[in-house]
Amino acid sequence: MTKDIYIGEISRNEEIQEDCFLMKVKVSSYFENPLPGQFVMIRIAGLNDPFLSRPISIYSFSRGKNYCSLEFLYRVVGKGTQILAGLIKGSQVEINGPLGNGFEIQTVKKNIVFIAGGIGIAPLSLLMEILCRRSDCSPSAMTVYLGFQKSSAVVGMDKMKNLCRDINVCTDDGTVGGKGFVTQIFQKDMKKFSPDNTSIYACGPKEMLKSLAKILKTNKFNCQVSLEERMACGTGACMGCAVAVKDEKGAFDYQRVCADGPVFNLQNIIWG
Ligand SMILES: Cc1cc2nc3c(=O)[nH]c(=O)nc-3n(C[C@H](O)[C@H](O)[C@H](O)COP(=O)(O)OP(=O)(O)OC[C@H]3O[C@@H](n4cnc5c(N)ncnc54)[C@H](O)[C@@H]3O)c2cc1C
Ligand code: FES
Repeated sequence: MTKDIYIGEISRNEEIQEDCFLMKVKVSSYFENPLPGQFVMIRIAGLNDPFLSRPISIYSFSRGKNYCSLEFLYRVVGKGTQILAGLIKGSQVEINGPLGNGFEIQTVKKNIVFIAGGIGIAPLSLLMEILCRRSDCSPSAMTVYLGFQKSSAVVGMDKMKNLCRDINVCTDDGTVGGKGFVTQIFQKDMKKFSPDNTSIYACGPKEMLKSLAKILKTNKFNCQVSLEERMACGTGACMGCAVAVKDEKGAFDYQRVCADGPVFNLQNIIWG
């Protein structure tokens, strides 16, 4: 699934929390409106080291008269994100996207639950923003569970607070909010929601999503999760991001996180 490659100009790239940056990029007005959960492959224009682009979720999107604005919330974890963090206003980046399938939000259920671990808050924020614009979705339907390792990793809360009132935060060490993993905090509350009228959307580290799969194993919640697999091409060509899943008939299959995902039905993922 190749999309056009756009040259974007950085209008902001600021460290808003320890090792966590908010980047704002202006791109051509030809950029498609993204679905929540879609991502871009991004790299510095003209730089071949590192050669590969990095997948980053679209955190926010707006359309101006002659351009589009994209926001990315990203954590510095290695060489590629370190290079992105060093870019100043006016620098150019190559952006391929929007890529991937995005979250499905055809019918809005009575309760909408968001579960994010760390930087997994990024795609869920855009989802929440888009849901809030719909007439059939009220902010009071939304409940958010956010987990971070420690207080200095807490990020993206201000935007969420503007969109939703019921936000439950926890940290592994208890320095902000409850102490524990976000899946444990959600599990304690789970009886508040009934599978028939609740949609769950989640994004976070693999271990978090694995725990969520265990918690939800015996009930029929509809839960869509966005996976953060490592990627090479990002466009479906190399199979480098393949994950094992059950297909519609329950048979074992491999699907590409970049092209078939990154959003999957949690119950269909086969955890290694
Ligand atoms: C669809 C998708 C959306 C993403 N959205 C965001 C986002 O909005 N914000 C954000 O900060 N990050 C996001 N990521 C993760 C981001 O792509 C990686 O952190 C980034 O590619 C790391 O590149 P690097 O060169 O800095 O690190 P590398 O040098 O490549 O790796 C450094 C360390 O990070 C680990 N790592 C690398 N890639 C990933 C990954 N995909 N998942 C988990 N661990 C990884 C490596 O194992 C290694 O330990 C997303 C990933 C995917 C697949
Ligand atoms: S990263 Fe190449 S197929 Fe997904």
